[in-house]
Amino acid sequence: MSEERKLRSQEWFGGDDKMGFVHRSWMRNQGYPDDYFRGKPVIGICNTWSELTPCNGHLREVAERVKRGVIEAGGFPLEFPVMSLGETIMRPTTMLFRNLASMDTEESIRANPLDGVVLLTGCDKTTPSTIMGACSVDLPTIVVPGGPMLNGRFRGETIGSGSFNWLIKEKQTNEAFDADDLREAEICAARSIGHCNTMGTASTMAVMSEALGLTLPGIASLPAADSRKRVMQQLSGRRIVEMVKEDLTMSKILTRQAFENAIVTNAAVGGSTNLIIHLTAIARRIGVDLRLEDFDRLGSGVPLLVNLMPSGKFLMEEFCYAGGLGVVMKELGDLLHGGAITANGQTIADNYRDAKCYHREVIATREAPLQPSAGIAVLRGNLCENGAVIKPSAATPALMKHTGRAVVFESMEDYHARIDDPELDIDADCVIVLKGVGPRGYPGMPEVGNVDLPEKLIRQGVKDMVRISDGRMSGTAYGTVVLHVSPESSVGGTLAVVRNGDRITLDVEQRLLQLEISEEELARRKAEWRAPEPRATRGYVRIYLDHVEQAELGADLDILTGKSGSTVDRDLH
Ligand code: FES
Ligand code: MG
Repeated sequence: MSEERKLRSQEWFGGDDKMGFVHRSWMRNQGYPDDYFRGKPVIGICNTWSELTPCNGHLREVAERVKRGVIEAGGFPLEFPVMSLGETIMRPTTMLFRNLASMDTEESIRANPLDGVVLLTGCDKTTPSTIMGACSVDLPTIVVPGGPMLNGRFRGETIGSGSFNWLIKEKQTNEAFDADDLREAEICAARSIGHCNTMGTASTMAVMSEALGLTLPGIASLPAADSRKRVMQQLSGRRIVEMVKEDLTMSKILTRQAFENAIVTNAAVGGSTNLIIHLTAIARRIGVDLRLEDFDRLGSGVPLLVNLMPSGKFLMEEFCYAGGLGVVMKELGDLLHGGAITANGQTIADNYRDAKCYHREVIATREAPLQPSAGIAVLRGNLCENGAVIKPSAATPALMKHTGRAVVFESMEDYHARIDDPELDIDADCVIVLKGVGPRGYPGMPEVGNVDLPEKLIRQGVKDMVRISDGRMSGTAYGTVVLHVSPESSVGGTLAVVRNGDRITLDVEQRLLQLEISEEELARRKAEWRAPEPRATRGYVRIYLDHVEQAELGADLDILTGKSGSTVDRDLH
């Protein structure tokens, strides 16, 4: 740090006047020695801990480890809570609140005397929400992902948290799986602290954070319960103090190159489709121009290297033992921008030069990948004028080029009411169309795109069908599922006017999603379409409905795009 650069926190704590007294005196009731206020970098530890977010339930202890590191490096750690988003509990969906949590994070950072920030994350939305908020302030910031749970073991078999859910209906239908079996499986699937241990959205977000350069190298794949994770937490605490001294702000790390690295890495690990929405939202906060097509262009030629559920066989614990993300980054080599700078001040190439693989069945080489090309395909066509996405590595090859008869559900309630009706006119070649689950429609764009198949078809042994919606899909899910259709049905996209019996063509190779009706018929139906009543007239949800953008823009609120920086030009008296 140049000697002249005054710490931001000194604007609060440095004054010898009434305001200096006010800012320091009350803080002293927590018992801090005087030198804490005299120029130590103040590090905010932004904690998404909550007992209602089980995946983040251990983050209070994590905060203590981080504080240890901050103090060792001469900083002054101050932990603060922000809204936590628990994927398995919150209704109607955590995604409705991602932008709210980001606002909480942004305003909490800016309004307080912080010089640097540590984001403690875990469950799916707690990572993008805090990163988005922090980007809009742009202080030096390091991410500490909470880490995945240990492997689930149920009756001798490994079960992935998150992925097992999608087998339950099939087991109940075909294997007499009863309530006692279910309860036993529940505890077996969640036997330690941490977030989902598949390459679901939480692990995807941890990998994204590391690939962006926002973490110390090697942290993403370590299980929450691993003592090496604690060491990394402590080292992250030490490092953020240095980052403040170097003025290594988020925008210096989050360059276009960093985003491209995150897209390529996500393809190689078989990460969640949710990355598209979250990474786009983060890019729009920090001011990097990222388009839906970038995900296809940069990601779809990348080989799948990581054999983890839901696309593959193993879980995060094996990923860690196999050498972790570093092996993938090293293997990707020239597909990445090796010169991109990361939180430790080194480049991606430096950080992973010595990575070693200990289990090639878990992490493949580029010469012999699990699939020659992974990533995400971005679809266009009259059914998705502003785009839609599909994850080919999670889809059934035979269905990737398919024309079928639409079976339409107008809402989630309609789907639940009719999907298992024995009279429902549906067969395995049909295309299941689900409306009303987009950002505005649900509201909150829930993870329902991979709806269960009709019971009668499951009994016949049908494993997959083409499903299309304006919603998202859990990162732990799989199937030939077209997601993020934009414009969504609730704002009058073509999806809104699809009718039972229409024919729909999906052709992933051609990147096409087409409703097979004439232009005149489509125009006539759209002219007749009436927007549904908004689902809230007050409160945060009203603000959300008035401002949420469509999926291809990251489903952020339009008023939150960009950043306001860290300056607050008025004090409280
Ligand atoms: Fe929290 Fe999966 S439910 S990470
Ligand atoms: Mg999820």
